[in-house]
Amino acid sequence: MSDVVLEASGLRVYYNTRRGPVKAVDGISFEMSRGETLGVVGETGCGKSTLGKSILGVLPPRTTVEGELRFLGKDLASLPREELRKIRGKEIALIFQDPMTRLDPLFTIEDHFVETIRAHEDVSKGEAIDRAVTALASMGIPESRLKHYPPDARPSVHAGAARVDNPPRIERAVFD
Ligand SMILES: Nc1ncnc2c1ncn2[C@@H]1O[C@H](COP(=O)(O)OP(=O)(O)OP(=O)(O)O)[C@@H](O)[C@H]1O
Ligand SMILES: [Mg+2]
Repeated sequence: MSDVVLEASGLRVYYNTRRGPVKAVDGISFEMSRGETLGVVGETGCGKSTLGKSILGVLPPRTTVEGELRFLGKDLASLPREELRKIRGKEIALIFQDPMTRLDPLFTIEDHFVETIRAHEDVSKGEAIDRAVTALASMGIPESRLKHYPPDARPSVHAGAARVDNPPRIERAVFD
């Protein structure tokens, strides 16, 4: 069996704007195997976040996506929404640069963990909290953080949210 986890082939992502198409990603190809880390580096506006969003399927409507993006052999573009929703947050996670704008400031870190875990699995709130504690501990973050609100959070808390599965099933995270 092939060890390739993520594969892009001739990927193009064009935002359709009133002033015409913005060619954010224009024909990239790569392969990532299990256990590999790929860093994408480039000047601002070169399309790094667009690549991450295309992997997660969270691009705005009316965006043109061409080429192929395969996750464990499945073409992400043709996956039914429901199947993509199951993968997102469980098998592939996007860790945003700025947790302030991505986490809801009215909910505690614990609330965010519990919601994420219970969106994917039928577990009690108590069990969800236990997993959150374990995930944070694995990153050296004390349990007391759970009662804090996102303005106190660091991207590591966000990263913790991507590691709540026990045993961790998320091996793949896209850092924005
Ligand atoms: N929703 C959108 N509609 C139109 N153009 C967009 C949209 N989002 C991004 N762009 C444009 O697409 C290009 C790539 O943007 P992107 O955010 O992917 O870059 P980036 O490499 O992540 O930059 P940064 O290092 O600043 O995070 C830029 O020219 C940006 O202005
Ligand atoms: Mg970016």
